[in-house]
Amino acid sequence: MGLGKYMRVSKPETGRDSEDGSDLEGLLHDPQDAAVSQPTKAKLSSVFHWTVHVITIILIFGLYVRSGRQAPRPTPLSIYSPLVEAVGDTSRMETFKGTFWESSPYHGPPTDEVMAAWKHITHIPLLNFTAEEISRMGHSLDSVQYPLERGGGYVAQFEAIHQLHCLHSLWQDHHYQKHPEMFPDLTESINAFPDVMEEHYEHCVNMLRQRLMCTPDPNFVTWRWVEGITGPYADFNTPHVCQDYEALLEWGHGRAVDAEVARDFYSWVPPADAVRLSHAP
Ligand SMILES: *[C@@H]1O[C@H](CO)[C@@H](O)[C@H](O)[C@H]1NC(C)=O
Repeated sequence: MGLGKYMRVSKPETGRDSEDGSDLEGLLHDPQDAAVSQPTKAKLSSVFHWTVHVITIILIFGLYVRSGRQAPRPTPLSIYSPLVEAVGDTSRMETFKGTFWESSPYHGPPTDEVMAAWKHITHIPLLNFTAEEISRMGHSLDSVQYPLERGGGYVAQFEAIHQLHCLHSLWQDHHYQKHPEMFPDLTESINAFPDVMEEHYEHCVNMLRQRLMCTPDPNFVTWRWVEGITGPYADFNTPHVCQDYEALLEWGHGRAVDAEVARDFYSWVPPADAVRLSHAP
C-alpha cells in the first residue's frame, strides 16, 4: 500500500530528473560555452547523465526501504478523551481469572455483597464537561447541559460505565429469574414497560457486541491436559495488558456533579433556546 504510494510519487520524479538533465544539457550547449571542445562537452554530458541516473536509483531505493519500514506501524486512531489526557496510560499486565467454579466479587448468586461490587463498577454520578471538551470529543454543542441554576456545563457519562451497566443488566436478567425479590426496581420496570425492557436487553447485547468487535482481543486461549479430566481443558487465565479501571473511577468521581444536581434527570425539560433533533439519535 505504502509502496504503491511511493512508486506513484517516484515515477514522475524520475521523469522530472531526466527533464532537469536535458535542461542542463541544453545549458551545456549554450553558445557561451562555445569555447568548450566537442569531445569534452560530450564527456561532461555523459558524466552528468549517469550521475542523475545513479542519484535517481539511490533515491527510489531509499524511498522503497523507508516505505517498507513504515508499513507495519499502526495508525493511531483514538478519539480525544479528557480521562486519557488527565490520567495517561495506566496499562499494566494482568491475568484474567477464568477458572470454572472459582468465585469473583461479581459471581452470582446475587447477595448484597455481590450487588455492591457491581454497583461500585457501574455507578458514578453524571459527569460535567466544558464546551471545549465536548467539541474536542466530537460531540454536538447542542448536547444537554445542566440548568444554569444548578451550575451549567455539559452532561456526559463514561462509555465504560454504560457498557459495564449493559453487562450488569444481562447478569441481572439471568439472576432475576430465580431471585426476583433481589431486584425490586427491575421487577417494577419489567412490569411497567415490558417492551422497553426487552429492547433494552437487545440494545445491551448490541452495544457489547460492537465494543468487543471494535478492539478484538488479540490474545489467545490454550489448552492443558489435567489429571482426572478426560480430554483437553481450556486455560482461560490468560495474560492481558489492562488499563486501571479504578483510576478511571477515581478521576470520574472528581469530574462528577453532586448527586443532587442530577436529580430527576429524565424529567428535565429543554430550555427555550434548545436545539432539538427531529428524531432520536
Ligand atoms: C461544571 O464545571 C464548571 C467548571 O468547569 C463549573 O463552573 C460548574 O458549576 C459545574 N457544573 C455543575 C453542574 O456542577
